[in-house]
Amino acid sequence: MVSQKEIRASNALINDATAPRVAVFVGGTSGIGQLTIKALVATGASARIYLVGRKSPEERTLAFIQELQSINPKAEIIWTEGEVALLAETRRVCGIIKSKESRVDLLFLTTGYAPFGERRETAEGVEIAQSLEYYTRILFILHLLPLLNQAEAPRIVSVLGGGLERATIKLDDLDLKKPGNFSGMNAQVQYLTMTTPTLEKLANDNPHVTFVHSWPGWVSTGNVRRGIDTNSLWGWFVWLILDPLIQLVAISDEDSGQRHLFQCTSAAFGGRGVPWQGKPGINSLEKQANGLFLVNYKCDCTPNTKAMPLLREKALAKIWDHTQEILRPYL
Ligand SMILES: NC(=O)c1ccc[n+]([C@@H]2O[C@H](COP(=O)([O-])OP(=O)(O)OC[C@H]3O[C@@H](n4cnc5c(N)ncnc54)[C@H](OP(=O)(O)O)[C@@H]3O)[C@@H](O)[C@H]2O)c1
Repeated sequence: MVSQKEIRASNALINDATAPRVAVFVGGTSGIGQLTIKALVATGASARIYLVGRKSPEERTLAFIQELQSINPKAEIIWTEGEVALLAETRRVCGIIKSKESRVDLLFLTTGYAPFGERRETAEGVEIAQSLEYYTRILFILHLLPLLNQAEAPRIVSVLGGGLERATIKLDDLDLKKPGNFSGMNAQVQYLTMTTPTLEKLANDNPHVTFVHSWPGWVSTGNVRRGIDTNSLWGWFVWLILDPLIQLVAISDEDSGQRHLFQCTSAAFGGRGVPWQGKPGINSLEKQANGLFLVNYKCDCTPNTKAMPLLREKALAKIWDHTQEILRPYL
């Protein structure tokens, strides 16, 4: 475990030279994304931050931007509105960023929720949580990789469930459309498991970029309540028992923001970034090299040797082919 003391000491070294100069936060309007932007801005370093999210009450967005700018006037916040559950909108938002920037140093992805209710699809026919947690995130990555490859020490952090992959996902029904295949737990495991082989392939194809698939542990953001039907038995269980339980055991907001800032900046992952004297993280291929890092809420890395060899052998090609089929019209 990397202690909070070590995390804070590392984050205290973030300055104009080591901070991501151009950062894109998709999902920074609440939860872990918002906590991480605040931690980044509080370092006092210069950064241009694209805050990407769906339309929300104007006062809410304005208040957040004003708060960030009062903490650090050197931070430039660019609010970029887009319906990020949709692939066409994701392509449009990426087009805006590509038209303004020649490089991106950090892409931080947190959209989504625990899909504990009925299966619901976007207008594009994709289950909403799967679109937010997997397809649109991969589309952001594919569109922005050319800009990330132009940065000195580029990094992509996707916050979902790195290290929790299972080899038992439904390969014959990746989108869980067949009757009986969709349930909250199945879906969450399916989406996080699809993420890792895809990120590992992209990391292999882009050796200059550091990839992190982060599992945040419990953070009391209200995330488990987002997908529930309030009138169902499960909805009541989440409302009355699970969410209060999470509030009791959760990592504090402040600590979570600092831990994710560390994951965005420390040389512990891949050797570039804020210098790190501790034990270097091992990547998903069990090497002390750049690549994909599966990082948990203690900032420990795991190669998940129980599931990953099987997923590489039996799942990667199917997941990649299917992902390309879904994303091709939006590339
Ligand atoms: N919190 C935890 O304990 C925990 C644990 C394990 C995994 N995770 C996963 O980690 C990721 C980040 O978690 P979090 O707690 O930071 O999440 P969060 O605060 O609940 O939500 C993150 C973002 O998702 C966006 N979002 C949610 N539903 C949307 C929709 N239908 N259309 C467009 N945007 C939508 C939110 O936008 P708005 O601000 O506009 O609502 C927000 O920016 C999530 O995928 C979550 O499932 C969280």
